[in-house]
Amino acid sequence: MNVLVLGSGGREHAICWKLAQSKNLNKLFVAPGNPGTAAVASNVNINPLDFAQVKSFIVANGIHMVVVGPEEPLVKGISNYLQADPATSNVMIIGPGQNGAQLEGSKDFAKSFMLRHGVPTAAYKTFSASEASEAKTFLTTMKPPYVLKADGLAAGKGVVISPSIDEAKETLDLFFAGKFGDASKKVVIEEFLSGIELSVFVLTDGQSYVILPEAKDYKRIGDGDTGLNTGGMGAVSPVPFASKEFMDKVETRIVRPTVEGLKKDSIDYRGFIFIGLIKVNNEPFVIEYNVRMGDPETEAVMPRIESDLLDLLEKAATGKLKGASIKTSTQTATTVILVSGGYPEEYKKNIAISGLDKVSETLVFHSGTKEHENCAIVTAGGRVLALTSLGNSISDALSKSYSAAETITYHGKYYRKDIGKDLMQ
Ligand code: AMP
Ligand code: GLY
Repeated sequence: MNVLVLGSGGREHAICWKLAQSKNLNKLFVAPGNPGTAAVASNVNINPLDFAQVKSFIVANGIHMVVVGPEEPLVKGISNYLQADPATSNVMIIGPGQNGAQLEGSKDFAKSFMLRHGVPTAAYKTFSASEASEAKTFLTTMKPPYVLKADGLAAGKGVVISPSIDEAKETLDLFFAGKFGDASKKVVIEEFLSGIELSVFVLTDGQSYVILPEAKDYKRIGDGDTGLNTGGMGAVSPVPFASKEFMDKVETRIVRPTVEGLKKDSIDYRGFIFIGLIKVNNEPFVIEYNVRMGDPETEAVMPRIESDLLDLLEKAATGKLKGASIKTSTQTATTVILVSGGYPEEYKKNIAISGLDKVSETLVFHSGTKEHENCAIVTAGGRVLALTSLGNSISDALSKSYSAAETITYHGKYYRKDIGKDLMQ
């Protein structure tokens, strides 16, 4: 089979690395990819949002399956676009159409979906810009801290948690004034839930599903979960507090009603559902849905999957997941992210990276790197590299990831030193 993966981050590198091991893989392409993906796939210089170019490439190269990494092409309708053209209508696509992608593309849609299908989530209300005064009155009925969410995609910055009502009202005004353009012209205000978070991944064909290994993500820049939010500073899989009993609750109360809900709403969903969960007094609640895999969670999850990924994706794309199962390694995977100094605020790029060839016990997934003219690998983004190690315990895996984090050097290198520490007994 010839497969095209869309995207350019650590998530796509991990997906390509896993797909490259599949027995039915013929050619693997990634658009646009990065220097890391180039080691396991052929990089193609196409922007995933340029649907016409993606289509031409698919036709010219006999692509059988497209795996969409990031959410933006899905929310913008790449699946519908490819399915509508007779030249690509038979191509298998991992990623929902525009209606299913609303689970991530609109917080209001996701919340009303959960309410309609009985999926536990925080109580909420949605307001549009013309209802600013009603929204402020509603805030006075809530307890602090106040959770405000821009309805649309806001590059991961659309959720603001304010300790005081005055700050919450200011944020509301900024959102309604278009801080994130149309994405914040509608705002979800919801109850604050206090608990511990984890990420659960589901692969579905719209009827049946398999649950992938769960992971915990570390979102803040500083040790001890302090400082600004980032795209993710590390991940651990499995998550010790996600016991069998808890995961059974997740499956019966959340995964099953979600897939059933898609069916009831006539949404033909073939792809990943990433469920951001919070465990409150041993009960799971949904914080958010994403319509793709997580980053950096994918870098920790893929190395733990023992089943053939392409085989599972083919089943998901063709409606044959019923009866499928997924074999998972009992080992622990830890991922430590190396970022550019200054990230998530301003940072420099084009800084030479050395030591990549000296790492042996750790998988090095590239997130934000590029190849310089003289063939050196340089930094090209905030998150630079994802260092994943497998071990018999969190500390065993972590010692390998941290050893790699020291071996690789570049000016301004920064990483969190406490990934997984909260999970160790
Ligand atoms: P999201 O972009 O929806 O993932 O939200 C970003 C982060 O905000 C989440 O990972 C949570 O840490 C936090 N968050 C979102 N909604 C809530 C909530 N209702 N209660 C507490 N924390 C929340
Ligand atoms: N790790 C969080 C995300 O991918 O959105």
